[in-house]
Amino acid sequence: MKVLVIGGGGREHALVWKLAQSPHVTDLYCAPGNAGIASERIRHNGAPVHCVPIGAEDLPTLVAWAREQRPDLTVVGPDNPLALGVVDRFQAEGLRAWGPTRVAAQFEASKVFAQQFMERYGIPAPRGAVFEDPRAASRYAASLGGRCAVKADGLALGKGVRVCRNQAEADAAIEDWMVRRLLGPAGARVVIQELLEGIEVSLHALCDGRTALPFPTSQDHKRLKDGDTGPNTGGMGTYCPTPFLDETQLAQAYAQILQPWLKGCQAEGIDFRGLLYPGVMLTANGPRVLEFNVRFGDPETQVYLTRLENDLFELLWASAEGSLPSAPLRWSAQTSVCIVLASAGYPGDYRKGCPISGLEEAEQIPGVKVFHAGTDRVNGQWVTKGGRVLGVTALAPDLPAALQKAYAAVERIHFDGMQYRRDIGHRALRWQRP
Ligand code: AMP
Ligand code: GLY
Repeated sequence: MKVLVIGGGGREHALVWKLAQSPHVTDLYCAPGNAGIASERIRHNGAPVHCVPIGAEDLPTLVAWAREQRPDLTVVGPDNPLALGVVDRFQAEGLRAWGPTRVAAQFEASKVFAQQFMERYGIPAPRGAVFEDPRAASRYAASLGGRCAVKADGLALGKGVRVCRNQAEADAAIEDWMVRRLLGPAGARVVIQELLEGIEVSLHALCDGRTALPFPTSQDHKRLKDGDTGPNTGGMGTYCPTPFLDETQLAQAYAQILQPWLKGCQAEGIDFRGLLYPGVMLTANGPRVLEFNVRFGDPETQVYLTRLENDLFELLWASAEGSLPSAPLRWSAQTSVCIVLASAGYPGDYRKGCPISGLEEAEQIPGVKVFHAGTDRVNGQWVTKGGRVLGVTALAPDLPAALQKAYAAVERIHFDGMQYRRDIGHRALRWQRP
C-alpha cells in the first residue's frame, strides 16, 4: 500500500515511524515532512520514506500530487488542513483520506460549535455561553467574578484562548477580540466559560463514525518553563500513562464523554472518522471537557505511538473505512516520556540553522527514539529549522525510569540556545491517590 502523511512536525515523524513498521505499507511519502522523517525506512522492505516539498495547507498542490500518484491512504496530521477540508477534497477525487471532513472538524475549528454541541448532548463541560455583543459578554464574565476563559470562535493559530483571573483581564480580552478585532473575524463571536481548577489531561479516541476506541491518558506541559511558568507553547513534553485515573475512572470518563458525543454525531449526521482528542480537566466534580481537538496531539502522539502495539496502518484504514474492530487497543505495559527540545527564542521568534550534535549517541540508549519536529540536514550536518526541534522519547518500566533514560539521552544532544523543561512528569511524581 502506498501511504501519504500530511504534515511535517514531531507528530508526523511519530506517525511515519509507526506506519513504517506495518507489513502492509510498501511506499511511504510525507508532505512536507522534515529531515528526520526523510531518514526513516520501511521496516520490511528497507524502502526510504520520501518527503514531498508541498506545504500541509497547500490543498490544490496536494490534491494534484495525489491525483497523479494515487496513494491508497492519506493520513492528515495537523488541524489546519482538516479545517480547510482536505479530506473532502481528497474524497471528491475518489482518494481515501484519514481524518474528519470539514464539517466534522468543526469540533476543533469552532469553539462556539463545540460549546453548543456539548450543551445539546449533555457532555460534561464548563458552564459557559456564546456572545456576539461585547457588553453582554462583559456582564457574563462579571457574573463569574471575572474568573473565566474567553475563547475566540474561529481559527486563531492557537492564540484564541485567554484564561482570566479578574474582570479587568476578561474585559481586556473582550475588548481586544470583539471590539478591536485583533484576531480578525475569529473574534466576532466568543465563548466565555467558568474557570475550572484541577489536573488537565489529554484523552484520545480513534473513531470510525460508529465506534470510538479509547487511548490511555497522557499529559502535556504547555508552559515553556519549569513549574508551569513562562509563556504558553505548543507543548514541551508528555508522558503516558498518567496515574490520575484508575482503569474504572478512565472507563467512566470516556463513557461520560464519548457516549453522548457519538449520540450527538449520529443525531446531527456527523460521520466522524478520525481521532477525537478531548482536552479534559479533572475537577472535584468529575471530568470536564475544555476543548475538542480532531487530530492527534503533538507531542502526545510521540508517547502514544511508542506504546501502541497494534498495526497503525490497519487502525487508520479501518477508521477511514468505518470498520474499526470492537477489541480494545493494545498498549505496552511500559511508560513513555517525551521531552521537547526547543530553539532559543521559542515560542516567539526563534533562531534557525544551529548545528545539532549527539543525535546518534542519544539513540544508542536502548528504548530511546528521537522524533524530529524542526530539523534540516545541510551538507551532512543536522541543523535546527523550527521552534520545537526534537522530541526525545523513552520507554521504560515506570515513569522515573523513563524520565531517567529520556534525560540521559537529552544530555547527549546539543545545539546553541537549546531550551527544555527539566520537570516533565512532575505532577505525577508528586501525586498521591486521594
Ligand atoms: P483550549 O484551547 O480551549 O483548551 O484552551 C487552552 C488552555 O486554556 C487549556 O489547555 C487550559 O489550560 C486553559 N483553559 C481553557 N478553558 C478553561 C477553563 N474553562 N477553565 C480553566 N482553564 C481553561
Ligand atoms: N499537545 C497539545 C496539542 O496538540 O494541541
